[in-house]
Amino acid sequence: MKGLFVTFEGIDGAGKSTHVEGLAQAFRERGRSVTLTREPGGTPLAEKLRTLVLNDAMDALTEALLVFAARRDHLQQLIEPALARGDVVLCDRFTDATFAYQGGGRGYDRQVLRVLEGWVQARPGTQALRQPDLTIWFDLDPAVAAQRLAGARLPDKFEAQPVEFFRRVAAGYADRLAESPSRFARIDAAQSRESVWQEVLAAVQQRGLLA
Ligand code: TYD
Repeated sequence: MKGLFVTFEGIDGAGKSTHVEGLAQAFRERGRSVTLTREPGGTPLAEKLRTLVLNDAMDALTEALLVFAARRDHLQQLIEPALARGDVVLCDRFTDATFAYQGGGRGYDRQVLRVLEGWVQARPGTQALRQPDLTIWFDLDPAVAAQRLAGARLPDKFEAQPVEFFRRVAAGYADRLAESPSRFARIDAAQSRESVWQEVLAAVQQRGLLA
């Protein structure tokens, strides 16, 4: 079995998390070994960095350096070994989130983010960076997402941002899709949970990734 790397993206409140679990189940039912993980996080060190990034005030470059540091550890300790074993790696957020949140939301220089992406995702012996085989983007109007999040729980640093911030985040995701359209499946996350799930399944099946 060849390793498969699928990432899940969207603004806070877009409802991706239940579908990450659902897809893990679908792959397991078909006999695949699944590594389910998230960013920032996924290793003990990266989870410590996650706590800092989600709770402490810091400038956008510091934020970008911390999420990429977490990503480096995550890739080396967890993702690359899992892919080498032939696992399906399902990751709740990855580098597109950095371009969307730090690049779009916070307005940080995307050229610098590209340099960091190049360093962190470099693979010895090849020119190509490690990138997801498929990225499922749960696209939802930020006003609707804000309604869904309201009162759900104590918001973290990002969830507490105003709707305009999430408009810039969503635009950041749209830019990433425009740069790599074949890597992305964009799903209209305003639909019912069941319809969204059917689209998630279809996206994976159409690409021949799930029998
Ligand atoms: P999220 O994935 O929404 O987890 P939960 O469902 O537990 O809230 O939270 C991660 C937050 O981190 C989210 O608001 C986006 C942000 N983030 C960045 O700003 N940059 C990044 O590179 C990543 C991976 C996440």
